[in-house]
This record gives sequence, structure tokens and C-alpha cells, in this order.
Amino acid sequence: MFETKPDIARRAEIETLVNSFYDRIRTDEVLGFIFTEVAQTNWTEHLPKMYAFWETVLFRTGGFTGNPIATHAKLVPLTAMGRAQFDHWLMLFRSTVDDLFAGEKAEHIKNCAADMANVIYSRINQVPDPRFDPATLTPEQRERYARYQPSSP
Ligand code: HEM
Repeated sequence: MFETKPDIARRAEIETLVNSFYDRIRTDEVLGFIFTEVAQTNWTEHLPKMYAFWETVLFRTGGFTGNPIATHAKLVPLTAMGRAQFDHWLMLFRSTVDDLFAGEKAEHIKNCAADMANVIYSRINQVPDPRFDPATLTPEQRERYARYQPSSP
């Protein structure tokens, strides 16, 4: 028998996903100490913030008002926040989603997480966002961007 997993339909599933993800993060060998020791995360505040964050991303109703770039930038002088850490974070996030859910929203939230990881990683480390690397432009984009003339001030 195939086991049919539900999709992420509302806030309740987001809470399940976030709780399960941070249960894994907390005890994770690579990332756990960044929360428990470096940031000394207050979980009763962080978890509801993350419910709001993902509800806002997925359903535009969570009312998240934080500043993820600034929050993660503060960690850079304190601990390694490189591609390896972000790739590991993404691997944990994707496997948590896949263990619990399947469907359109489940795919969407994994794509959003990957985009956010790229944006946060590049901004806090001042490296170009890999999505906008000229080497990865399509021929159509390359031609269109070559036509672009900045308007004079
Ligand atoms: C190397 C990977 C990452 C590490 C080590 C990390 C660690 C942290 C830490 C320590 C905090 C602060 C928690 C506290 O209040 O104590 C935080 C906040 C947060 N993280 Fe991450 N994070 C990572 C990647 C990501 C990614 C990829 C996303 C989005 C998809 C994300 C979304 C957030 C959000 C929304 C907050 C709350 C920001 C705010 O309050 O303004 N994180 N993270």
C-alpha cells in the first residue's frame, strides 16, 4: 500500500512542520549549537515567529514582521555561516517536509526555502546571488539584458 501524505493546507500543518524541523535542528551536529549556544535561542519566541514567517510566505496571512537578513548577518562574526551551513540547513528542511507532506504546497515551500537560503547567504556574505550569476543566464535573458540602457540621472 502507498502511504498518502497530506499537503500543507493551513496553519496547523505549518506548526507541525516547524516543530519537527526545529526538533531536528536543535540536536543537529552541524547547526544545533548555533541556536543553543551562539544565539541562545528562546524557543517559545522563535517557534511562533517561524509559524508566522511560513504562513506569510505560503498563504500571505501570517503577519510576519522580522528582518531575516539582519538576524542572520549578526551571526556572521560569531560562527561559520557559509554555503556548507546553508546547504545542510536546506537538506534538513527538505527532508522534514518530505517526511511529513506531499503536494503542490510542499514543493512550493521547499523552493521558497531554497530561494531564501540563496538570498540570505549572498547578502550576509556579500557574494552575488547564484540565481543572478551571468554564467547561468539563458540566451534570451542575455540578449534582453544586453539591450538595457540605464536611464541618465
Ligand atoms: C545556516 C543556516 C541557518 C542558520 C544557522 C540559522 C540560524 C538562525 C538563528 C540563530 C536565528 C535567530 C533565532 C533567535 O531568535 O534566537 C534565526 C532566525 C530566523 N531564521 Fe534562520 N538560520 C539559517 C537559515 C535560514 C533560512 C534558509 C531561512 C529561510 C528560509 C531562515 C529563516 C529565519 C527567520 C525568518 C528567522 C527570524 C528572523 C527575525 O526574527 O527577523 N533561516 N535563524
